[in-house]
This record gives sequence, C-alpha cells and structure tokens, in this order.
Amino acid sequence: MKCHSKNDPNKIAIIGAGGVGATTAYALMVQGIASEIPLIDINKEKAEGEAMDLNHGASFVKPVEVYAGDYSDCVGANIIIITAGANQKPGETRLDLVKKNTAIFKEIIPQITKYNQDAILLVVTNPVDILTYVTLKLSGFPKERVIGSGTVLDSSRFRSLISRNCGVAASNVHGYVIGEHGDSEVPVWSLANIAGTNLDNYCPICDKTCQSNNREEIANKVKNAAYEIIQRKGATFYAVALAVARIVRAIIRDENAILTVSSLMEGQYGIEDTCLSLPTIVNSTGIGKVLDLPLNSKEENKFVESANTLKETAKKLNL
Ligand code: 2OP
Repeated sequence: MKCHSKNDPNKIAIIGAGGVGATTAYALMVQGIASEIPLIDINKEKAEGEAMDLNHGASFVKPVEVYAGDYSDCVGANIIIITAGANQKPGETRLDLVKKNTAIFKEIIPQITKYNQDAILLVVTNPVDILTYVTLKLSGFPKERVIGSGTVLDSSRFRSLISRNCGVAASNVHGYVIGEHGDSEVPVWSLANIAGTNLDNYCPICDKTCQSNNREEIANKVKNAAYEIIQRKGATFYAVALAVARIVRAIIRDENAILTVSSLMEGQYGIEDTCLSLPTIVNSTGIGKVLDLPLNSKEENKFVESANTLKETAKKLNL
C-alpha cells in the first residue's frame, strides 16, 4: 500500500477517548481499515475501558490491536486523529468553544509532533475549522497533512435528507455543504444532483409534489442537526465517527475521493490563510487538490462570508 512516509499505513492514533474518539475507533474497527489503534486520553482509565470494550469484539472483525496509549504511541502512526477537547453544551455554538479548545490544542500538538513529524493530522474537535488552522500553525506541518473533518458530516446529512425527501438512496444523491462546519455553512444546491441530473431538472420528473421551500427546510435541518441532537442526547458521535472513518479510508487506500474536508485556502474564491471546507481530492498524501467548482453568485458570496467569520475568530487568537 502506498504511504507518504516510513509510517505504518494502517496505524491510526486517536487523541481523545470520549464519545467521538471511541466511536471513531469502533467505526475503524468494524470497517477493517486499521490494524493498530492507540487511544490516547488524559483520562487513561477511560481509554483503557474503551480499549477493553472494543477488544472484546476481536473475534467478529479483522485483526486489529486497540490499546490505551500515551503520546509516544504516536510514533509510526500514518494518521493521528484529534478528537480531544470540550464539546458543545445545549445552546452553545461551536465557535463558543474556541478559547477552551485552542488552549487544549496548545498542550496536545507539541506532544504529538515530538513523536511524529510525518503523520497526517486529522482534526475533529470543534470549532473544527479554527482548530485545523491552529494545528497547522502549531505543528508547522505542510498544509497537505493538516486536515479537518470539516463539512464531511454536513454533506452526509444533506445527502441523507435529500434522499428521504426524494425517495432515492443517499448513495445516489450527490451534494456538498461547504464553508464553516457550523452556523455559516453553505449548502450548494446548484451542484446537488440525482442520477447526474441537477435538482431543478430532476424535480419535474419525480412523482412527488414537494414545496419549493423544502430546500430551506432541508438546509436548516442540516445546519441545526447538532443542536437538535445535543438537546436530546447530549452529544453527537455516530455520524461524525463514520465521516472520520470515510476520510481515513480515502487516505489509507489512496482513493482520490472527493470529500468536503477542511484545509488551508490558497486563493479559492479569493480566500487565503483560513481553513474551511470545499470539495477536495483526498488521497494518501492527505489533501490532493482543493476544487473551486463553479458556484452561483449567492453561494459564492455566502462562502466568502463564512470564511470571513472564521478569519475574524482566528485573528482574535493571536497565533
Ligand atoms: C456535529 O455536527 C457536534 O460538530 C458536531 O455533530
């Protein structure tokens, strides 16, 4: 298997053994896409408990070694997934977490880079776009190897809601949510399609009689999904873990998959020096290419607004 460094392509370290970290380990294990998963948490006992629980399923999955580790276990990892940090409480926005989690990242990132300079860093902690930027700055890693899970989850929520609305399998619905993974995110309706047909052309051939304001309702449901879930069960972790596993698979299998991960912008739609999501080719090098697809002017303006919101927030951190 092609790998960009001397690291073990199938060793995936996870920092943070909370709901998202542990469920990510579970998703990687069930999908057979990792052979070694050190779980690293400030609360080692919690990481040990999660590792024991996961290992007891060993007879049902492909061989994989899951264990509670420490930062030295980042040595040789191909991908280091960072899920550690405070998560949203009911009513809190992702951006409300920025100070707390930036302080945590200032502790974590130097410990990772002490043991591994070649890995791909995959940031999941919120606010994910800001923390991807923070990670890029603190690690000094090349931009290709610092990736945020970004709006991969939002794009999946978008596809799943269109799928239900239109009565078509989610795998046959294509569509992207771009920008911030958060309140300023942008659903790209102009590129959403079913069977290669954009929705404006697909809708007239569908038997259903949807209201045109369905689009607004779907976009709001996607944007507010985390608030709705957190209000009911306190946290989100299943779908985000699947989104992270999807990104990991694209890297490990050198897929050139197009995913809306967050990464450093270098002039796309005029945006520089900010991390946020656009459809991106993801392969064994990490970020292969960020695609600036043709958006309509409303979408482009909203994307630029989203980038500016993030830029203002990052500026206040004085990195
Ligand atoms: C989510 O969107 C909270 O960012 C997390 O589920």
